[in-house]
Amino acid sequence: MRTEYRPSRLLRGHRYLLLPVLWLALVGPGQADTQRLQQTAASPGSPGAALTFSADTSPPLGLPPMAVPEENPPTRAKIELGKKLFFDRRLSFNRTLSCAMCHIPEQGFTQNELRTPVGVEGRFVGRNAPSLYNVGYRRHLFHDGRENSLENQIWQPLLKTNEMANPSVGFVLATVREAADYNGLFEKAFGRGPTMESLGRALASYQRTLVSAGSPFDRWYFGRDEQAMGERARRGFALFMSSGCSGCHTIGTDHALFTDDGFHDTGIGYARAMLPDTTGPSTVRLAPGVEVVPAVNLAMPVANDLGRYEATGRAQDRWLYLTPSLRNVALSAPYMHDGSFPDIASVLRFYNSGAVPHPGLDPRLRPLGLTPEQLLDLESFLLALTGDNTQQLARDGRLAEIGDSGVQ
Ligand code: HEC
Ligand code: HEC
Repeated sequence: MRTEYRPSRLLRGHRYLLLPVLWLALVGPGQADTQRLQQTAASPGSPGAALTFSADTSPPLGLPPMAVPEENPPTRAKIELGKKLFFDRRLSFNRTLSCAMCHIPEQGFTQNELRTPVGVEGRFVGRNAPSLYNVGYRRHLFHDGRENSLENQIWQPLLKTNEMANPSVGFVLATVREAADYNGLFEKAFGRGPTMESLGRALASYQRTLVSAGSPFDRWYFGRDEQAMGERARRGFALFMSSGCSGCHTIGTDHALFTDDGFHDTGIGYARAMLPDTTGPSTVRLAPGVEVVPAVNLAMPVANDLGRYEATGRAQDRWLYLTPSLRNVALSAPYMHDGSFPDIASVLRFYNSGAVPHPGLDPRLRPLGLTPEQLLDLESFLLALTGDNTQQLARDGRLAEIGDSGVQ
């Protein structure tokens, strides 16, 4: 099944601009780039000045133009400010935790070492941090889709007591107002000092630059380059289509988001709530050679996670989760909303065995009967979905941190 992604369906009630992807904006301020920006921007950096893009800036191979809210067109000043905020540890209550510490650029803009991240003072967070690659294309945000605007989304991590734990919006704005190194930056980007709105707009503008495609698959499938993807991965692609994966992880005719932006029951939520979990650690290592047996099974869910139900309150939405994109999936382990699978191979074994049979299971999930060889083919295909600029995006972000965010 092939479904076209129609950005025009995005967020009813909001007005959107369709922009070619923000290539210019994200590749650092190189000489040629700066010149081009100056040619194309009405008046770069001045309040409200939107970049217009020259004809040669098209989205990377495999992705469509991105819909951007009409009231927040990208400018270099906003993107640079958003990047600085993203890496700034002072944005948490105790000044220790930045967005980038849970969405680590070198770890696929998620965390590879923890199933679920740790908030300020070691507080428990119940869900896996999604990768932020291509987040600007998402129609729904969070595993339950409870938010749909990147501009508004930031207040959840900033204010949640188990994440960045700021006591109020005013507290966050005061932090930024009092930091000398932000002097003039909000004024330059928005024409006035920091507000609840402009903080969201700056962070959203930066996150919309985290665009990554042009993978071996894209070059092979959309670019018609026979050499771009190996034979094993090509067999894996055929299996991906014939096993029904593309029913939810969608591939269109001229681009692929690898998600239908829909909510489905794959049985993970059901299993977490209903089946005893025996996979957790039986001992905890406090120091080399010092191990204790915890009083509770640390792998057990602390709070019941009901998925999409938590955003809608509708009984039929219990244990449905948003389909993640599979672009750059090789970089974003561990997997699923609870990070319960450590690697791609274990996700594929899960699908091959028919997921978790129970009354609500999506009917498209059934035992696949694939051989170990075929599972390797499928894995090889998923590994071919890594974009060609992932390292550049990580480096680009770090430069902002080293540059001037005030962090040692
Ligand atoms: C303590 C770790 C942590 C911090 C700090 C954090 N996040 Fe997250 N982020 C998460 C988790 C966990 C989720 C998923 C939560 C859920 O689905 O309920 C998430 C979800 C998101 C999403 C939705 C992505 C998607 O595809 O659904 C965005 C966007 C995001 N975070 C951006 C940010 C920004 C911007 C900041 C800084 C203001 C930030 N995060 C700080 C852990 C964190
Ligand atoms: C019925 C829709 C549906 C089908 C069919 C489907 N998936 Fe998924 N897939 C999902 C959902 C929903 C999740 C997230 C589940 C969660 O977070 O608990 C997911 C998660 C994943 C993940 C983990 C990604 C991440 O970032 O955590 C991988 C890998 C994956 N699917 C691959 C596949 C493959 C390969 C197939 C075919 C064998 C397939 N999927 C079939 C809906 C589907």
